[in-house]
Amino acid sequence: MPQAQIIDGKVTAERLRAEVAAEVAELKARHGLQPGLAVVLVGEDPASQVYVRSKGEHSLAAGMHSQTHRLPAETSQADLLALVRQLNADPKIHGILVQLPLPKGLDEKAVIETIDPAKDVDGLHVVNAGRLAQGLPALIPCTPLGCMIMLRQTLGDDLAGKRAVVVGRSVLVGKPVAQLLLAADCTVTIAHSRTRDLPAVCREADILVAAVGRPQMIKGDWIKPGATVIDVGINRVPFSDPVKAAQGKTKLVGDVAYKEALAVAGAITPVPGGVGLMTVACLLQNTVTAAKRIAGIA
Ligand code: GUN
Repeated sequence: MPQAQIIDGKVTAERLRAEVAAEVAELKARHGLQPGLAVVLVGEDPASQVYVRSKGEHSLAAGMHSQTHRLPAETSQADLLALVRQLNADPKIHGILVQLPLPKGLDEKAVIETIDPAKDVDGLHVVNAGRLAQGLPALIPCTPLGCMIMLRQTLGDDLAGKRAVVVGRSVLVGKPVAQLLLAADCTVTIAHSRTRDLPAVCREADILVAAVGRPQMIKGDWIKPGATVIDVGINRVPFSDPVKAAQGKTKLVGDVAYKEALAVAGAITPVPGGVGLMTVACLLQNTVTAAKRIAGIA
């Protein structure tokens, strides 16, 4: 049985982090500029704590200035906005990321819109989303950026004319990845929970991006033979082994039924070990991009 090429996020992310570290060293040496990233975590969501720690560690390892602000879940909207404004004004900080989701009672949209668009390394501010949609220079959300790097590494730089189907329409992934595919001259379909005959739509895809957040929803027979599959899902589910499940053990799976997909796809990203690892590397890259733009370095 044919077996898809596995697109290794670990190797790709390591390479990108090394490139970013080299660029940070050069910016320091030639321009006296040290890119700085501030990450804000409100509350104690366990998954968010893991992500935030990883962002802090990797930014330090790349030679950046790094700040992590941990605030209690009861933090008021006014206090959170005051911190964002303080970071907007801090010349040592070039990138600001407020980890989502925020605890109940806090207005995520208002927080994101308060971030200076020039420091919005998550690419979530309407100014950056609008600039991306209009093909202007923008800060681009990290996970979609990671998806495009993995696609180009697999298929080459010329994606023109390929049929791309994005399953999911979130602001964080679905919409921006569709914009990036369109900018690369793909023919793009955005599918979602109300799409009719989703399997048939997926089967048209040369490039299938799964970003729905539903464990193993996309089955092997939804995939066109030879297609490139980018699985953005990170879902925690109980083990299928009843003994392990009874012990409360869980594992990570993507939005794609991986084993089935391996037999059909031409190439596929695994979960874990795929797109997820690229997100932090792209965050570091965005911080360097923001620092250079703020400092007026081309
Ligand atoms: N939570 C999960 N993914 C992300 C992300 O890319 N950015 C932010 N800010 N929060 C997240």
